[in-house]
Amino acid sequence: MTDLRKRFSPKEFDKSEIDEADVASIMEAAAWAPSAYNEQPWKFHIALRQNEAAFASFLSVLNEGNRGWAETASGLIFSVARRERNRDGLKNDYAFYDTGQAVAHMTVAALERGLQLHQMQGFLPADCRRLLDLPSGIDPVTAIAIGRPAMGQAPDMPHRVRKGHDEVFVLHRGTEA
Ligand SMILES: Cc1cc2nc3c(=O)[nH]c(=O)nc-3n(C[C@H](O)[C@H](O)[C@H](O)COP(=O)(O)O)c2cc1C
Repeated sequence: MTDLRKRFSPKEFDKSEIDEADVASIMEAAAWAPSAYNEQPWKFHIALRQNEAAFASFLSVLNEGNRGWAETASGLIFSVARRERNRDGLKNDYAFYDTGQAVAHMTVAALERGLQLHQMQGFLPADCRRLLDLPSGIDPVTAIAIGRPAMGQAPDMPHRVRKGHDEVFVLHRGTEA
């Protein structure tokens, strides 16, 4: 079973390449995520390091802080979500939530292949929209760097702290006063 404690968001990758077959199997894992009304509102735009012009164009719409380290990734991804439901044209309030779940699936599939994902909110949405030619109703959600962590990047980096169980969940046993 995948040990999710090994998942982390590297701030430096090893600049190696990943092949399209790996990308396809990671995307297959995303496709099997649950979604409200099975709308599958997500889409992933991907530029691999070996496709230099595409990779550079994706990098250029990250904010400056993220651009520095994301340049070392094997691939850059933008997750985008359709905000209207296909079934009835109503607003899909769960579009971002469902897209996040698909990314979680991707994260696990990537981990099984020795790859890590680092998600980012730090990108320029208007520039991203122009780059991907997104029509109205489709919104960018996150940028994601994917790759193999550089030497020295490991899950036990000191800044990686977690809330305690008492802050994260409440078990209702029916015996509360
Ligand atoms: C929606 C989202 C947006 C994030 N945005 C950024 C970002 O812009 N830049 C960055 O360096 N990390 C970003 N992160 C990574 C988080 O900082 C990181 O997941 C968190 O510190 C926990 O560390 P870990 O993923 O190594 O467990 C983002 C993560 C998520 C899920």
